[in-house]
Amino acid sequence: MNLKKLAGEKAVEYIRDGMTIGLGTGSTVYWTIRKLGELVKQREIQIRAIPTSQQTSYLASELGIPLETFAQSTELDLTIDGADEFNSSLDLIKGGGGALVREKLVAAASNRLIIVADESKAVEEIGKFPLPIEVVPFAWEVTAKRIEGLNCVPTLRRVNGCPYVSDNGNYILDCSFGYIENPAKLDRTIKLLPGVVDTGLFISMADTVIIGTSNGLKVLSK
Ligand code: A5P
Repeated sequence: MNLKKLAGEKAVEYIRDGMTIGLGTGSTVYWTIRKLGELVKQREIQIRAIPTSQQTSYLASELGIPLETFAQSTELDLTIDGADEFNSSLDLIKGGGGALVREKLVAAASNRLIIVADESKAVEEIGKFPLPIEVVPFAWEVTAKRIEGLNCVPTLRRVNGCPYVSDNGNYILDCSFGYIENPAKLDRTIKLLPGVVDTGLFISMADTVIIGTSNGLKVLSK
């Protein structure tokens, strides 16, 4: 059974006609976008969407999903996105796919955030997944040193040996903290460091997590 598909497709049931929605990034929300594309094509639903990445923008456009920007809407009804880790308080680590900054902006502009994930993303305490932190390329070495001072091992994300560049033109440091005792405090501390754009900690943002498990679907809500 494809658990990502199971969770991703289920989320489409939360989308109502006329909504403006945020579309996340990754291999789970991929299934949401595919299914939504089918409904739009069959004219069963009319929606507009703001994508969280170039990757999602291309996919949604290919499927005929009408896209807009924050110039048209500054408030979204709903965002559906994936996560790299979630706990029972619905705190998340995101950004494994590199789209954390736009994902957080879109989630923050949404009245509701639904996360789709397979059961492998469930953790008791977040932090095992290296926390992605987007940083300005200029002086990234200095920023990395400051982050290292918070007791973690930062690694510059690379693709084929070159630094990975986000849709915003920035670098990403993947930071192994291990278990994060107070995610909200850590998020605030990191964001005060010069050169940090944002972190992949999404604290108190998710309203619902739809989980694909080998026993079927499970839904966690606030
Ligand atoms: C993208 O930057 C991430 O935040 C993704 O939402 C997250 O990595 C989940 O991706 P998958 O659904 O591909 O596991």
